[in-house]
This record gives sequence, structure tokens and C-alpha cells, in this order.
Amino acid sequence: MNLPRRPRRLRSTAALRDLVREHSLEPNDFILPLFVSEKVDAPVPVLSMPGVCQWPLEAMVEEAAAAHAQGIASVLLFGIPEHKDEQATQAYAEDGIVQRAVRALKARCPGLVVITDVCLCEFMSHGHCGVARFEDGRAHVHNDASVELLVKAAISHAAAGADIVAPSDMMDGRIGAIRRGLDAAGFTDTVVMSYAAKFASAFYGPFRDAAESAPKAGDRRSYQMDSANALEALREVALDVEEGADIVMVKPGMPCLDILWRVKERFALPTAVYNVSGEYAMVKAAAARGWIDERATVLEQMLAFKRAGADLIITYWAREILGWLRA
Ligand code: PBG
Repeated sequence: MNLPRRPRRLRSTAALRDLVREHSLEPNDFILPLFVSEKVDAPVPVLSMPGVCQWPLEAMVEEAAAAHAQGIASVLLFGIPEHKDEQATQAYAEDGIVQRAVRALKARCPGLVVITDVCLCEFMSHGHCGVARFEDGRAHVHNDASVELLVKAAISHAAAGADIVAPSDMMDGRIGAIRRGLDAAGFTDTVVMSYAAKFASAFYGPFRDAAESAPKAGDRRSYQMDSANALEALREVALDVEEGADIVMVKPGMPCLDILWRVKERFALPTAVYNVSGEYAMVKAAAARGWIDERATVLEQMLAFKRAGADLIITYWAREILGWLRA
């Protein structure tokens, strides 16, 4: 055949493939989520997320220190409080589990970037991400009252030493309110990473076991986004950018590569993606049965995130990936 263009030429040896590779995975790309619980005194494995634990405070700090020594640059903290109520008071208590965990982490690993999830669901007795009242089994989540509590939570995390606060609740106006609150409290350098385009997703199922945050009645569809909507995702991100988000996040990951791509192209901000619990559980389950090659599928997914525009990837595989990259 007379072919002037033979794309296979550049694939013919491993060395040529290495030379023309467009994307690669670096240790700094990965953020490790950690669950710290006030209710356990030894690590408790999360059954639907093999390899993931709820940690007591000291053990969590040891795990983070080991991860940091391995090359993990950043962790995302979720807290599981002993006490829940209808005002999520432990979300913004000075001696709350997250606040204590941040202080302990920063004392042990000053160079580790500590990110806190700012949400109320783990701290609310009803499991919703905001202040709620119930009528006929339906939850009505009050936006502005919830934002007030989220601002308090974010300030308390910054006061404990968090480098980045990451609001995941999807209330309207919370990024601006948190930015103003942080600035007024003197935390002008605390970074806000907004869960900007967060869809109501069935892929969060296993996380709610890990964080003990499933809503007791109703679902999250009145605040998290409808999976059918892409333009709305761009409007959501635009609002968070206007309100002062430093980093924007798209969530879930694999089902939203189109959104990730558009967000990166349009806003050109540091862009994060959350490779969520259900995405993790699926591959773990298939790999455990020998149906899929875990390492190869995970690395392929991570490259897909990079190709789609992710600068940062939040993933439960972070430590394993660093090991694979080194091997
Ligand atoms: C808290 C929060 C959730 C996740 C991150 N922050 C759960 C939810 O919105 O129900 C999900 C993460 C995952 O599935 O891995 N609101």
C-alpha cells in the first residue's frame, strides 16, 4: 500500500512509544482520602471498599505519615463523629474529630497538604448535607441556614491548620460565603477546592458505608446535580469560579469525563476529579474474581482522567498507584 501516513510507525517499539507519549502519571497528581473516626479504637475495614479503613485518630496520622513518606503529597480528610445532631455541631466544634485530626496531622507531617471535606452529612443525625426538615418522608434542605454552618466548619478547619477546604455539599452560594468567612477570620491563604460539579450519583454508595453518612430519609437530588445535565454543570462551575474557588472539582470521575474536559477547557483552573467509591468498588470486586487486571485497569483510568484535563485525582488507589509507578 502507498500510505504516506502510517500511525503504527510511532508505536513500533516501546522506546518510540515512550518518546511520543502525551500524558503521564506523577505522584503529585494523587490525593489520598482518609476516614478518621471517633468511634473506633482500631482500624475497621470498610467492607464495600477493600483496602479502605475507618481509622482511629493516632492510626490515621501514622497511615498519613507512611503515605507521605511514600511520596503522597496530599490527603483529603473525612470525619466520623461520635455524636450527631440536627445542627451538625461536631462539624464546627473546635475539638471535633476533623479539627483534632488536622492539628495532629500538621504537627506530625508539616509538609503534607491537608485538605478537609467540608460537609454536614456525617455530622447530621438525618444524614443530609444541610439543615433539614421532613414532611411526608421528604427532606427539605434549607440552603442559607446550611451555608451558615458550612462557613463555620470551613473556618474551624482553617483554624486547625487545614491547607485546603473542600466544600462538597452543593448548597448555592457557599463558596462565596466560605471565602468571605475565611478572609474575615484572617485565613486569606486557605485554599478553597470546590466540589463544583457534583452529580447525585449511585456511585457514592460504598462511601456512605465508610463515612456513615447515608440519608435516613429521602435522597440528595434536591441539591446534587441531575446526571442528565452538562450545561448546568458548567453554570455551577462558573458560579464557584466567580465566588472565589481556587480549584474546581468534577465528581464522580469516570461517568463524567465529558464534564471534566469541558470544565478544564472553559475555565483553565486547576481541575480535580474524584474517582469515587463505587468506581473503586467495581474494579476491586472484578479484580478479586480474577475478571480484570486491577493494576492495568486502574492506570488506564488514571490516564483517562489526565487526558480529559484533570490536574489532580482523588482516589482510594493513591498509595497503590505510587507503588505501581515506582515498580
Ligand atoms: C459528602 C461526600 C460524599 C462523597 C464525598 N463527599 C457523599 C455524598 O455526597 O453522598 C462521595 C465520595 C465517594 O463516593 O467516594 N457529601
